[in-house]
Amino acid sequence: MEPRTRAALGAVAALLLLAGCTSTADGGGVDIGGVEGTPGAAGLRDPYFPKLGNGGYDVTHYALDLAYDPRSGRLDGTAMITARAAQDLSAFNLDLAGLAVDSAVVDGDPASVNRAGTELTLRPRADIGKGEVFRTTIEYSGVPRTITDADGSKEGWLRTRDGAVALGEPAGSMAWFPGNHHPSDKATYDVTLTVPQGTQAVSNGVRTSERTANGRTTSVWHSAEPMASYLATVAVGQYRTKVSATPSGLPVLTAADPSVAAKSDPLLARIPELLAWQEENFGPYPFSATGAIVERTGDAGYALETQTRPFFPLDSLTVEILVHELAHQWYGNSVTPADWKDMWLNEGFAVYAEWLYAEDFENVPAQVNFEAAFATDANWDFPPADPPSAENLFDPPVYQRGAMVLHKIRQQVGDDTFYEILAGWAAKHRHGNASTADFTAYAEEVAGEDLGEVWDVWLYGDGKPKRP
Ligand code: TRP
Ligand code: ZN
Repeated sequence: MEPRTRAALGAVAALLLLAGCTSTADGGGVDIGGVEGTPGAAGLRDPYFPKLGNGGYDVTHYALDLAYDPRSGRLDGTAMITARAAQDLSAFNLDLAGLAVDSAVVDGDPASVNRAGTELTLRPRADIGKGEVFRTTIEYSGVPRTITDADGSKEGWLRTRDGAVALGEPAGSMAWFPGNHHPSDKATYDVTLTVPQGTQAVSNGVRTSERTANGRTTSVWHSAEPMASYLATVAVGQYRTKVSATPSGLPVLTAADPSVAAKSDPLLARIPELLAWQEENFGPYPFSATGAIVERTGDAGYALETQTRPFFPLDSLTVEILVHELAHQWYGNSVTPADWKDMWLNEGFAVYAEWLYAEDFENVPAQVNFEAAFATDANWDFPPADPPSAENLFDPPVYQRGAMVLHKIRQQVGDDTFYEILAGWAAKHRHGNASTADFTAYAEEVAGEDLGEVWDVWLYGDGKPKRP
């Protein structure tokens, strides 16, 4: 709340200070100090989702204030979005799917809103100068929708027996809040959740408060480290929650539907131990909280590495998938793909973490998993760095063949250099974004040798090589 007031006052002060405010030709806006903006782009030209995300600004913080009624399925939200203009802006877009926009305010003044599909175009009263920090407040409401992806999987807002869960990979977060929904624009978050008393709500990060008044419970969740919007989550329903800390003092919060809690507990109890093992291999854990959310089988068709608090339908809560989703906290969540074409940087690393787990805990060398993957036809459909379309983003070549790329590097450079690359990559791009080209350059830099053959054959090459 406090920064919002300050921003609004800042805008007023700017208006008072700057003489010569004139009307601009485009839509009668006020031209502050000679700023004549142009509209930000309606998309970031992601190869698979050209309209995903928006140009012209960078979000630094989302403050989402959400009230959800599991019985009616209605969500009432206020999104306060703090962003920095990357150009002089006369208008800018946000992505939102469904849900009615009830009001839109930019730096204290009402903004006009146009809607076309999932694109909201906001035109602030005054143009925004490049570099300026501005605050957009959107009130919105409705029954959030479930989005069906190109591959038929469901994301966005998923109703459960006693509530709902929000999952956003690759494009589902626009179903529950307006934003710049491309992985390249990461931001910090504060999420305030209000639900009927007796129902619980969970989100990412650290729970900073919880209180009950007038039959409703409100909890506040703080994500201090940057997060891509596809990793934001809320889960509403009945949960058995457990709060603890790892030996190093990291807060752990797990929430499991009561009907799956007893089955989940033994694996969830291993989170601290698994994180300690991953820290040895990948370097320091990047976030200030951990945990998990477990729902009933079928509530979602897959697990997801939602930041600090991965989500699992019960049938996905295996030690391999737990290792996988925890590994994503380094690879995907802290080091985030520059666009969705780089998905193998998420999935190849997370699968390789599973192979390392098998090697370190189950006496199965990664070579064995590599050879099994080599022998599987489905892994050769396309090269991992080049999924043919959005519907192939979660296909076996991205996962298994992505991991095979890492194994080939390991064979080439040896274990010491390989582990140096794994941890160094996580350190170099901690809390940032990175591309496949960044990775190949970095691996060669650490290895001190040309790895062109690995890239040509295993990362970019069509079809199966003659030998493993
Ligand atoms: N990225 C998730 C993981 O590997 C899985 C996932 C998310 C997924 N959405 C999906 C798998 C859609 C298949 C289809 O941890
Ligand atoms: Zn994954």
